[in-house]
Amino acid sequence: MKNIVLTGFMGAGKSSVGRKLAERLGMSVVDTDELIERSAGMRIFEIFSRYGEQHFRELEKKAVAEASKLESYVIITGGGVVLREENVKNLRKNGIIIYLHAKPDVIYSRIKHETHRPLLQVKEPTKKIKELLEFRAPYYANNDFMVDTSDLTVEQVVEEIVKKIKKP
Ligand code: S3P
Repeated sequence: MKNIVLTGFMGAGKSSVGRKLAERLGMSVVDTDELIERSAGMRIFEIFSRYGEQHFRELEKKAVAEASKLESYVIITGGGVVLREENVKNLRKNGIIIYLHAKPDVIYSRIKHETHRPLLQVKEPTKKIKELLEFRAPYYANNDFMVDTSDLTVEQVVEEIVKKIKKP
């Protein structure tokens, strides 16, 4: 079976949906951020502050290439994975790409108490979320189908995905 790849902005629900979805379908799960942290021996935040975003993106490219070789996995990606065409190409070779969307205010309410995402540790996170979402919209549009998670529970998103992938 093909991999199921979850893309989308920080706070769109990729991690919680990915884990539940894998459980529901009896699939294994891998998270590209975790692969990066494991191989670098550092948290994402530390990689950004020590070496900068570009270095992180290089590590991310390697993690994506590694994850793309798997089969029958749910692949949870970091929010910026889609920015490199090569990443999407790799993931698509053996995977269905599902974009999880969420509205900016919903994203903010989900992430406001979290501190592990370097890109959102700024003075005006709501403004930053809107700007990044707008810039990334055409990249996220590169998907096989999308689910708006704004008003759905994790379980509802999982069921939505299961319904869509089972359609002939
Ligand atoms: C990023 C999203 C993060 C992580 C890194 C950069 C982004 O992953 O990869 O902080 O550029 O959107 P999540 O989407 O899992 O938070």
